[in-house]
Amino acid sequence: MAAMILSAPLLSARGLTKHYDGIKAVETVDFDLTAGQVHALIGPNGAGKTTFVSLLSGRITPSAGTIQFDGADITRLPAHSRVARGIAYTFQITSIYANLPVFDNVALAIQRQGSTNLRAKTMAALARVGLDGRADQNAGTLAYGHQRLLEIAMGLSMAPKLLILDEPTQGLANAEIDAFNTLIREVTPQTTVLLIEHNMDVVMDLADQITVLSFGETLATGTPAEIRSNPAVQAAYLGG
Ligand SMILES: Nc1ncnc2c1ncn2[C@@H]1O[C@H](COP(=O)(O)OP(=O)(O)OP(=O)(O)O)[C@@H](O)[C@H]1O
Ligand SMILES: [Mg+2]
Repeated sequence: MAAMILSAPLLSARGLTKHYDGIKAVETVDFDLTAGQVHALIGPNGAGKTTFVSLLSGRITPSAGTIQFDGADITRLPAHSRVARGIAYTFQITSIYANLPVFDNVALAIQRQGSTNLRAKTMAALARVGLDGRADQNAGTLAYGHQRLLEIAMGLSMAPKLLILDEPTQGLANAEIDAFNTLIREVTPQTTVLLIEHNMDVVMDLADQITVLSFGETLATGTPAEIRSNPAVQAAYLGG
């Protein structure tokens, strides 16, 4: 029966683990990402959120566990191979070319895909995050929040299947956060979004699913309503 066939998750992690000298940064995490959704990853400082997405992006290698993405085992693939398979990510620490114009930062990301029509695509990517008016400015002179938006433009210019964002709204003004929310709604469901975010208004507005990490382990996964009413989550993070 067709209705019984459930589509496989876009990404599945099983037993994913990263230890640093006895620190259990990420400890046997099972995690499924449904295609087309916005999935938020929340939890206290030091919970292992950045480490977890760094394992998914290939920036660091796991101590144990597996990662399946889009039907393939990517656990041992280098980061650039994962980018080629459609995983784009922005780090908590900005990774732009500060001494190059905003335009060049995005154009370089697009050029790496071997794309044609560079100028039009670059300007379109910048317009999506509201930075088209700053194309000629050196990226390092942008405000911190705008540097994060530039990174998102670089990520989106690759037309990824999965976009991973680590605290993208940090340093943004309220009006810019509204524009960010609109952007994320526009890019889904074509792009699946995994979002590390401390701003609970953003999380509750955008997320279809929320996973809460605490001391490297999954405390809970569920809809925003389920997470909000979860006593363990309130105790560990929401301060209920
Ligand atoms: N390269 C590293 N070497 C040693 N310990 C590390 C390293 N990276 C992270 N850790 C430790 O692993 C734990 C998880 O850190 P991580 O940065 O993943 O947390 P986080 O949830 O992203 O926190 P935040 O909300 O502050 O960004 C912390 O105890 C951190 O000190
Ligand atoms: Mg972090």
